[in-house]
Amino acid sequence: MSTAKEWSNPSAIDYYSQNRHEISDLYPSETVFLPRVLFPGAKVLDVGCASGGFFNIMRSYEPNIEYTGIDLSERAVELAISRYPEARFLVTEGFGLPFEDDSFDIVHCTSVFNNEPNYQEMLQEMYRVSNRFVLTDIRLLKGLGKQRESIYNIQFNGKAVEATVPYVVNDADEVAEFILQLKPKPKALRGTGYFHQVAKEAAEADTPNEDVCMTVLLLQKGDLYGGPTTLDLKDLPIEFSVSEK
Ligand SMILES: C[S@@+](CC[C@H](N)C(=O)[O-])C[C@H]1O[C@@H](n2cnc3c(N)ncnc32)[C@H](O)[C@@H]1O
Repeated sequence: MSTAKEWSNPSAIDYYSQNRHEISDLYPSETVFLPRVLFPGAKVLDVGCASGGFFNIMRSYEPNIEYTGIDLSERAVELAISRYPEARFLVTEGFGLPFEDDSFDIVHCTSVFNNEPNYQEMLQEMYRVSNRFVLTDIRLLKGLGKQRESIYNIQFNGKAVEATVPYVVNDADEVAEFILQLKPKPKALRGTGYFHQVAKEAAEADTPNEDVCMTVLLLQKGDLYGGPTTLDLKDLPIEFSVSEK
Protein backbone atom coordinates (compact mmCIF):
# COMPACT_ATOMS: atom_id res chain seq x y z
CA MET A 1 0.00 0.00 0.00
CA SER A 2 1.45 3.40 -0.95
CA THR A 3 1.34 6.05 1.75
CA ALA A 4 2.22 8.88 -0.70
CA LYS A 5 -1.03 10.72 0.02
CA GLU A 6 -0.55 10.50 3.80
CA TRP A 7 3.05 11.75 3.69
CA SER A 8 2.02 14.60 1.36
CA ASN A 9 -0.34 15.96 3.99
CA PRO A 10 0.55 19.66 4.57
CA SER A 11 1.28 19.04 8.29
CA ALA A 12 3.74 16.26 7.46
CA ILE A 13 5.45 18.40 4.82
CA ASP A 14 5.55 21.34 7.20
CA TYR A 15 6.96 19.21 10.04
CA TYR A 16 9.84 17.80 7.98
CA SER A 17 10.68 21.21 6.54
CA GLN A 18 11.18 22.56 10.09
CA ASN A 19 12.56 19.50 11.87
CA ARG A 20 15.09 16.78 11.19
CA HIS A 21 17.50 18.94 9.23
CA GLU A 22 20.24 19.74 11.78
CA ILE A 23 22.61 17.37 13.60
CA SER A 24 21.03 18.59 16.85
CA ASP A 25 17.66 17.19 15.61
CA LEU A 26 19.01 13.62 15.60
CA TYR A 27 18.37 10.99 18.26
CA PRO A 28 21.68 10.00 19.92
CA SER A 29 21.48 6.51 18.34
CA GLU A 30 21.36 8.18 14.91
CA THR A 31 24.69 9.90 15.53
CA VAL A 32 26.65 6.67 16.12
CA PHE A 33 27.19 5.29 12.60
CA LEU A 34 26.33 8.15 10.24
CA PRO A 35 29.44 10.32 10.82
CA ARG A 36 31.64 7.20 10.67
CA VAL A 37 30.43 5.96 7.28
CA LEU A 38 30.48 9.31 5.44
CA PHE A 39 33.71 10.10 3.61
CA PRO A 40 34.79 12.76 1.05
CA GLY A 41 33.23 12.06 -2.33
CA ALA A 42 30.80 9.42 -0.98
CA LYS A 43 27.81 8.68 -3.20
CA VAL A 44 24.80 8.59 -0.92
CA LEU A 45 21.23 7.45 -1.54
CA ASP A 46 18.66 8.58 1.04
CA VAL A 47 15.44 6.54 0.83
CA GLY A 48 12.38 8.36 2.22
CA CYS A 49 14.18 11.72 2.24
CA ALA A 50 11.02 13.85 2.78
CA SER A 51 12.01 17.50 2.15
CA GLY A 52 15.74 16.73 2.16
CA GLY A 53 16.72 17.44 5.77
CA PHE A 54 19.26 14.60 5.85
CA PHE A 55 21.16 16.19 2.96
CA ASN A 56 21.82 19.13 5.24
CA ILE A 57 22.69 16.84 8.18
CA MET A 58 25.07 14.71 6.12
CA ARG A 59 26.90 17.65 4.59
CA SER A 60 27.33 19.11 8.09
CA TYR A 61 29.33 15.96 8.86
CA GLU A 62 31.01 15.74 5.44
CA PRO A 63 30.61 18.66 3.00
CA ASN A 64 31.86 16.77 -0.04
CA ILE A 65 29.18 14.16 -0.79
CA GLU A 66 27.19 13.25 -3.89
CA TYR A 67 23.68 12.99 -2.48
CA THR A 68 20.52 11.56 -4.08
CA GLY A 69 17.26 11.65 -2.11
CA ILE A 70 14.17 9.70 -3.11
CA ASP A 71 10.66 9.88 -1.73
CA LEU A 72 7.25 8.70 -2.85
CA SER A 73 5.70 12.08 -2.01
CA GLU A 74 5.83 14.44 -4.99
CA ARG A 75 5.11 17.41 -2.77
CA ALA A 76 8.00 16.56 -0.41
CA VAL A 77 10.40 16.17 -3.34
CA GLU A 78 9.31 19.50 -4.88
CA LEU A 79 10.08 21.21 -1.60
CA ALA A 80 13.43 19.37 -1.28
CA ILE A 81 14.46 20.53 -4.78
CA SER A 82 13.62 24.14 -3.97
CA ARG A 83 15.48 24.02 -0.62
CA TYR A 84 18.59 22.19 -1.82
CA PRO A 85 19.02 22.70 -5.60
CA GLU A 86 22.63 21.48 -5.30
CA ALA A 87 21.47 17.93 -4.46
CA ARG A 88 19.52 15.43 -6.59
CA PHE A 89 15.98 14.41 -5.65
CA LEU A 90 13.62 11.97 -7.36
CA VAL A 91 10.04 10.85 -6.80
CA THR A 92 10.23 7.09 -6.60
CA GLU A 93 9.33 4.20 -4.29
CA GLY A 94 11.88 2.31 -2.23
CA PHE A 95 10.81 -0.88 -4.04
CA GLY A 96 12.29 -1.42 -7.50
CA LEU A 97 14.91 1.34 -7.26
CA PRO A 98 15.81 2.82 -10.67
CA PHE A 99 19.56 2.36 -10.11
CA GLU A 100 22.18 -0.17 -11.19
CA ASP A 101 23.64 -2.67 -8.72
CA ASP A 102 26.40 -1.21 -6.49
CA SER A 103 25.67 2.42 -7.51
CA PHE A 104 26.04 4.03 -4.06
CA ASP A 105 28.60 3.89 -1.26
CA ILE A 106 25.99 4.51 1.42
CA VAL A 107 22.26 3.80 1.28
CA HIS A 108 20.51 5.52 4.16
CA CYS A 109 16.88 5.12 5.26
CA THR A 110 15.43 6.41 8.52
CA SER A 111 11.91 6.49 9.96
CA VAL A 112 10.49 4.47 7.09
CA PHE A 113 10.38 0.84 8.30
CA ASN A 114 8.30 1.80 11.35
CA ASN A 115 5.49 2.51 8.86
CA GLU A 116 6.36 0.04 6.10
CA PRO A 117 5.30 -3.61 6.53
CA ASN A 118 7.30 -4.86 3.54
CA TYR A 119 10.74 -4.02 4.91
CA GLN A 120 12.32 -7.11 3.35
CA GLU A 121 11.73 -6.15 -0.28
CA MET A 122 12.92 -2.61 0.33
CA LEU A 123 16.00 -3.63 2.31
CA GLN A 124 16.96 -6.11 -0.39
CA GLU A 125 16.75 -3.34 -3.01
CA MET A 126 18.76 -0.95 -0.86
CA TYR A 127 21.42 -3.65 -0.40
CA ARG A 128 21.49 -4.31 -4.15
CA VAL A 129 22.20 -0.69 -5.11
CA SER A 130 24.81 -0.24 -2.36
CA ASN A 131 28.45 -1.17 -2.84
CA ARG A 132 29.43 -0.66 0.80
CA PHE A 133 26.96 0.38 3.52
CA VAL A 134 23.23 0.28 4.25
CA LEU A 135 22.24 2.32 7.30
CA THR A 136 18.66 2.05 8.50
CA ASP A 137 16.42 1.96 11.54
CA ILE A 138 13.71 -0.49 12.49
CA ARG A 139 11.61 -1.25 15.57
CA LEU A 140 12.28 -4.66 17.11
CA LEU A 141 11.07 -6.96 19.85
CA LYS A 142 12.56 -10.27 20.94
CA GLY A 143 10.25 -13.29 20.67
CA LEU A 144 7.51 -11.46 18.77
CA GLY A 145 7.33 -14.44 16.39
CA LYS A 146 5.99 -12.50 13.46
CA GLN A 147 5.67 -8.93 12.37
CA ARG A 148 3.09 -6.87 14.23
CA GLU A 149 1.19 -4.24 12.27
CA SER A 150 -1.39 -1.83 13.59
CA ILE A 151 -2.79 1.42 12.29
CA TYR A 152 -2.54 4.91 13.73
CA ASN A 153 -3.11 8.55 12.91
CA ILE A 154 0.14 10.43 12.51
CA GLN A 155 0.51 13.56 14.62
CA PHE A 156 2.96 16.39 14.23
CA ASN A 157 3.70 18.91 16.96
CA GLY A 158 0.83 17.46 18.98
CA LYS A 159 -1.66 18.17 16.20
CA ALA A 160 -3.69 15.27 14.85
CA VAL A 161 -3.36 14.80 11.13
CA GLU A 162 -6.00 13.13 9.03
CA ALA A 163 -3.53 10.55 7.81
CA THR A 164 -3.53 6.93 8.85
CA VAL A 165 -0.44 4.81 8.36
CA PRO A 166 0.67 1.35 9.54
CA TYR A 167 2.76 1.10 12.72
CA VAL A 168 5.14 -1.82 12.35
CA VAL A 169 7.27 -3.73 14.87
CA ASN A 170 9.40 -6.67 13.73
CA ASP A 171 10.79 -9.78 15.37
CA ALA A 172 14.47 -9.17 16.22
CA ASP A 173 15.79 -12.60 15.21
CA GLU A 174 13.73 -12.74 12.04
CA VAL A 175 15.21 -9.41 10.89
CA ALA A 176 18.77 -10.51 11.74
CA GLU A 177 18.27 -13.84 9.93
CA PHE A 178 16.88 -12.05 6.90
CA ILE A 179 19.93 -9.80 6.76
CA LEU A 180 22.35 -12.69 7.16
CA GLN A 181 20.92 -14.51 4.13
CA LEU A 182 21.31 -11.51 1.79
CA LYS A 183 23.50 -12.16 -1.25
CA PRO A 184 26.38 -11.47 -1.32
CA LYS A 185 26.68 -12.28 2.37
CA PRO A 186 27.19 -9.12 4.47
CA LYS A 187 30.72 -8.52 5.78
CA ALA A 188 29.31 -7.11 8.99
CA LEU A 189 26.07 -6.34 10.79
CA ARG A 190 26.29 -3.77 13.57
CA GLY A 191 23.57 -2.28 15.73
CA THR A 192 22.80 0.28 18.36
CA GLY A 193 19.59 1.37 20.05
CA TYR A 194 17.46 1.50 23.16
CA PHE A 195 14.02 0.59 24.47
CA HIS A 196 11.39 3.31 24.23
CA GLN A 197 7.62 3.46 24.44
CA VAL A 198 5.76 3.22 21.16
CA ALA A 199 4.60 6.58 19.81
CA LYS A 200 1.75 7.95 21.94
CA GLU A 201 -0.62 8.08 18.99
CA ALA A 202 0.14 4.46 18.12
CA ALA A 203 -0.44 3.41 21.72
CA GLU A 204 -3.81 5.17 21.57
CA ALA A 205 -4.71 3.01 18.60
CA ASP A 206 -4.67 -0.78 18.87
CA THR A 207 -0.90 -1.12 19.41
CA PRO A 208 0.07 -2.61 22.79
CA ASN A 209 1.46 0.17 24.95
CA GLU A 210 4.87 -1.30 25.65
CA ASP A 211 8.49 -0.45 25.02
CA VAL A 212 10.02 -1.48 21.71
CA CYS A 213 13.67 -1.46 20.75
CA MET A 214 14.42 1.55 18.56
CA THR A 215 17.18 -0.06 16.52
CA VAL A 216 19.72 1.43 14.13
CA LEU A 217 21.41 -1.17 11.91
CA LEU A 218 24.53 -0.81 9.80
CA LEU A 219 25.02 -3.48 7.13
CA GLN A 220 28.37 -3.70 5.41
CA LYS A 221 28.04 -5.36 2.04
CA GLY A 222 30.27 -8.33 1.34
CA ASP A 223 31.67 -9.73 -1.86
CA LEU A 224 31.15 -13.07 -3.57
CA TYR A 225 34.09 -14.74 -1.84
CA GLY A 226 33.51 -13.29 1.64
CA GLY A 227 33.95 -15.20 4.89
CA PRO A 228 31.60 -15.18 7.89
CA THR A 229 29.62 -12.07 8.78
CA THR A 230 30.99 -10.12 11.74
CA LEU A 231 28.15 -9.53 14.20
CA ASP A 232 28.41 -6.53 16.49
CA LEU A 233 25.04 -6.26 18.21
CA LYS A 234 26.25 -5.94 21.81
CA ASP A 235 25.19 -2.31 21.98
CA LEU A 236 21.55 -3.36 21.60
CA PRO A 237 19.49 -4.23 24.69
CA ILE A 238 18.27 -7.42 22.96
CA GLU A 239 19.95 -10.81 22.88
CA PHE A 240 19.90 -12.14 19.36
CA SER A 241 19.79 -15.89 18.73
CA VAL A 242 21.64 -15.60 15.41
CA SER A 243 25.34 -16.40 15.23
CA GLU A 244 28.16 -15.55 12.82
CA LYS A 245 28.05 -17.80 9.77
C1 LIG B 1 8.66 9.67 8.74
S1 LIG B 1 9.25 10.42 7.25
C2 LIG B 1 11.01 10.36 7.55
C3 LIG B 1 11.80 11.43 6.85
C4 LIG B 1 13.32 11.36 7.09
N1 LIG B 1 13.91 10.14 6.54
C5 LIG B 1 13.64 11.45 8.55
O1 LIG B 1 14.08 10.45 9.15
O2 LIG B 1 13.44 12.52 9.11
C6 LIG B 1 9.03 9.14 6.10
C7 LIG B 1 9.22 9.58 4.65
O3 LIG B 1 9.45 8.40 3.87
C8 LIG B 1 8.64 8.43 2.71
N2 LIG B 1 8.35 7.03 2.38
C9 LIG B 1 7.57 6.16 3.07
N3 LIG B 1 7.53 4.96 2.45
C10 LIG B 1 8.34 5.07 1.35
C11 LIG B 1 8.69 4.20 0.29
N4 LIG B 1 8.22 2.95 0.25
N5 LIG B 1 9.52 4.65 -0.68
C12 LIG B 1 9.99 5.94 -0.67
N6 LIG B 1 9.65 6.83 0.31
C13 LIG B 1 8.85 6.40 1.30
C14 LIG B 1 7.42 9.26 3.10
O4 LIG B 1 6.82 9.86 1.96
C15 LIG B 1 8.02 10.28 4.06
O5 LIG B 1 8.43 11.46 3.40
